[in-house]
Amino acid sequence: MKGLILSGGKGTRLYPLTFTSAKQLIPVANKPVLFRVIESIRDAGITEIGIVVGDTAPDIKAAVGRGGRWGVKITYIHQEQPLGLAHAVKVSRDFLGEDRFVMFLGDNVIQGGISPLIEQFAASDWNSQIVLTRVSHPEQYGVAELDDEGRIVRLIEKPKHPPSDLALVGIYMFDHNIHTAVNNITPSWRGELEITDAIQWLVENGYQVYPYIHRGWWIDTGRPGDMLEANGLVLEELEPSVAGYIDRDSEVDGRVTVEKGAEIINSVVRGPTIIGERTRIVNSYVGPFTSIYHDVLIENSEIERAIVLEHSEIRDIPARIQDSVIGRHVSLIRSPIKPKAYKLTLGDYSKVGIL
Ligand code: DAU
Repeated sequence: MKGLILSGGKGTRLYPLTFTSAKQLIPVANKPVLFRVIESIRDAGITEIGIVVGDTAPDIKAAVGRGGRWGVKITYIHQEQPLGLAHAVKVSRDFLGEDRFVMFLGDNVIQGGISPLIEQFAASDWNSQIVLTRVSHPEQYGVAELDDEGRIVRLIEKPKHPPSDLALVGIYMFDHNIHTAVNNITPSWRGELEITDAIQWLVENGYQVYPYIHRGWWIDTGRPGDMLEANGLVLEELEPSVAGYIDRDSEVDGRVTVEKGAEIINSVVRGPTIIGERTRIVNSYVGPFTSIYHDVLIENSEIERAIVLEHSEIRDIPARIQDSVIGRHVSLIRSPIKPKAYKLTLGDYSKVGIL
């Protein structure tokens, strides 16, 4: 069995963070979402993994490499344009051959392993297995309608009037018949070749497609709010450890992970929280559900429920920073220079909420 990870696309809903970096590389609890996806496929015993890449290919290749770090072999597959998830399967035809495979969207975070599910499919003669979960806004997803016996009746992509609240999670398992299916569908109203339509084609043509209902949490990290939610959920499951330095004047509770080279000086840190490598927290408060990535400085400031990316600096901020995603190399500093005013250099599509 092979793995196929979809990591193309533009990530427009995460601007400005994704102007300079692929959305799949934004860390959740200090580990890029894409790395988490690779690990869950590897944990199911799959070592041959293809990653579909688009414009952000250089970034993704630099971060992931050839997979040796995880004991897997990565093959990069170029998709000229994000023309849909089924189109991504089409361009991966040579890599996939006649093998059964699991397809994973590179921006999805799911609770618990999915290894048993993948292993079960690998050993079965089913043509496809899909993962469904109950959501409160099904119109934003692919939606499944099941009959009384739990069999799939119909699948529709982002329906205006959803027939159920069962959304397609971004994990799909297929055998080689999916290649016939993707060649038999046409682009949807949004101009994409939808994998949902390809699976519907399998159902209509008598192939065996089984649904599995996932009961834990699952997050499609499309928007900043989703990133924060996923971050909080993953932090809650993290086994805390302290590899950095905490001085005697600091108060750090048992749910805090301090990575190596990090320093916490005269500060209060409440978990679940993670402080990245070489990051310094000085005279500050870091509250629950916060991930501070590597080489960050937080000084004389308060922050909670936030993600701060590498090489950023937050100093002397008078109000608590909350529900925020802060990019790389950002300086957020109280300035003594007159006039007393907000002095901002913000990238396109930045969002700032002022007191
Ligand atoms: O997250 C689950 C949902 O994912 C499903 O419920 C939907 O049925 C499915 O169509 C998909 O919807 P999205 O609109 O959220 O997909 P998105 O465009 O965000 O793409 C998902 C991932 O696949 C993302 O990591 C980018 C990558 N991608 C996307 C397209 C369209 C590609 O690699 N190539 C593509 O052509």
